[in-house]
Amino acid sequence: MISPATIQQIQNRIDIIDVVGSFVKLKKRGTNYLGLCPFHNEKTPSFTVSPNKEIYKCFGCGKSGNTISFVMEHEKYSYVEALRWLANRYNIEVEETAQSAEVREQQQLADSLYILNQFAQKYFTHTLFDSEEGQTVGLSYLEERGFSKAILEKFQVGYCKETRQAFVTEALAKQYNRELLLKSGLVSLRNEDLVDNYRGRIIFPVHNTTGKVIGFGARIIRKNDKAPKYINTPENEIYVKSRILYGMYFARQVIDKQDECLLVEGYTDVISLHQAGIENVVASGGTSLTTEQIRLVRKYTNNLTIIYDGDSAGIKAALRGLDMALEEGLHVKLVLIPDKEDPDSYVNKVGADTFRNFVAENKKDFVLFQLEVALKDAGNDSQKKAAAVNQIAETLARINKAEDFTRQQDYIRQCASLLKIEEEGLNNLVNKFIRERVSKLEAKWNPADDNLPATDQEQAVPTTDESLQLLLKDELQERAAVRVLIEYGAMDWEDGRKVAPYMLEELDEEMVSNPDLFRVIQVYRNWVQAGIEPNAKNFFYHEDQTLSAIVVSLLAFPYEISTKWKDKFRMAVAAREEVYLQDIKNTIAYLKLRKIKKMIEENQADLLKEHTADEQVTLLQTHQALKQMERDLLKEYGTVIVR
Ligand code: UTP
Ligand code: MN
Repeated sequence: MISPATIQQIQNRIDIIDVVGSFVKLKKRGTNYLGLCPFHNEKTPSFTVSPNKEIYKCFGCGKSGNTISFVMEHEKYSYVEALRWLANRYNIEVEETAQSAEVREQQQLADSLYILNQFAQKYFTHTLFDSEEGQTVGLSYLEERGFSKAILEKFQVGYCKETRQAFVTEALAKQYNRELLLKSGLVSLRNEDLVDNYRGRIIFPVHNTTGKVIGFGARIIRKNDKAPKYINTPENEIYVKSRILYGMYFARQVIDKQDECLLVEGYTDVISLHQAGIENVVASGGTSLTTEQIRLVRKYTNNLTIIYDGDSAGIKAALRGLDMALEEGLHVKLVLIPDKEDPDSYVNKVGADTFRNFVAENKKDFVLFQLEVALKDAGNDSQKKAAAVNQIAETLARINKAEDFTRQQDYIRQCASLLKIEEEGLNNLVNKFIRERVSKLEAKWNPADDNLPATDQEQAVPTTDESLQLLLKDELQERAAVRVLIEYGAMDWEDGRKVAPYMLEELDEEMVSNPDLFRVIQVYRNWVQAGIEPNAKNFFYHEDQTLSAIVVSLLAFPYEISTKWKDKFRMAVAAREEVYLQDIKNTIAYLKLRKIKKMIEENQADLLKEHTADEQVTLLQTHQALKQMERDLLKEYGTVIVR
């Protein structure tokens, strides 16, 4: 870990205009700077940087953040990598903190696994190319399948001998310990004995994106009904299946350049396509794509083309992950290889050029493909057809990013034409699903504050507008509270106190129902207790970048919240310094009122149950006390609070 002192130094030295300006040509406009957004294609600049707030926001694509998130996003760096990049830029020496024993142990274990895997990979590759058995059994099989020596060397393919303990013996002699060997999956336990786990198999090393070997896929050579075709590395400290795309290390630069990622099922598909000069290709191992894998692809491109064999069971698995890909803004295409071939056999049969042409000509949009399959299944069954209409509307409702709006409209047009239904009808259906999603979201955000009568189906699903209003009203007040805490925490409050201690005393869990916002408050509280006077920058450099993103969004540019909301709720949306005291009072009063209201409701619900006379009296007294509190608050702040 990088020490807090180093982070502090970076924080002090950083200049957002300098950093962003080294990637984007910026022009001064008033207090802000303006340029062409590096995150999406635009001809007129809408990318705004505020040197005062040290944040940027693009009003075209909506991306916003601080200096560090800019470096992370632009350079595809992790948080720590971005810090190191900045430290290097400003000639700051990076000091590491002592790690906790547990973290250190994990790190050491991971390091040991990397070293062992590298040793194993070298051993297996050596066995394949230089041993008698490797050549006659392994290499001859691979060459028969058409793999060249050069491509096998590039992918560091290897072979594990049939002998029970050939590898184990070598590894133990090199002092690798038993636990580590078992954890790596390279060996297994047979009656107390360690034996080689991949005996008589071709070894495909799996690399992470920096090229280190994190695990292996071991393919049987002769077909055997008793043994699995592949044995894969078990999950361990460095091999996490949900994050891996086989071949990404060799493909990533080409994917970036060609702005497209091809996805196939297997190891051999990747290697064969590479050999044919098609290098922007990775494999999923035939399972459905995870969000992590989709995000890994999105680091390099927004275009994913899935190439599977026509009758593969893998298609269904692949399609399962894809609604999520839509939500992530990925453009997914599908190509099915004909005649029981897979990409590996097909490219070997027809050659690179024909393969390329085939892919280009048969690329089907994944959404339209899904619809075609469903329609074919439905035939003349109108029930099934209706189900297909519903399914496609639900899928299209997932495209909910503002920037993808035209895309959604295009889909609606094309799907309506495929379905032979009216565009407007499909549009309405899609909107209905969007509304349902919004109201579900609302229920998740605000479970306690259920103002909606849920008696009637119609009423249970509010319109988008209603949901948003409800969401925004409470959310905005909670956000305002956190924003004033961060902006004015160090300023003077009444009775010689500062703002922060006053607010921290007031803001409890029941007043702030959004868990993310409450977390910001808790982090702030911890810092105060540790003697730090926090400001926005402390959050910007927080290791948890989601926290940082929340704070950025709180401080975002003043015209972000449309005047419509301001007029509607008459809230102090953009706090100006001179009114900060009133601003804080209003915000806290609003949240307090909301809490009291909730307590009154609970108390009233309690009153309806059976009670002894004494209990009844207590409850009534409570009710009166709460009502009095509500009146007092309203008297003090009523003129500014609209509820
Ligand atoms: P395939 O059966 O299509 O294998 O499985 P393949 O990669 O094309 O191998 P060849 O061409 O027949 O030699 C596709 C992928 O599914 C995973 C592997 O990642 C494989 O590459 N798989 C398959 C397993 O993990 N275990 C298995 O038993 C089978
Ligand atoms: Mn195959």
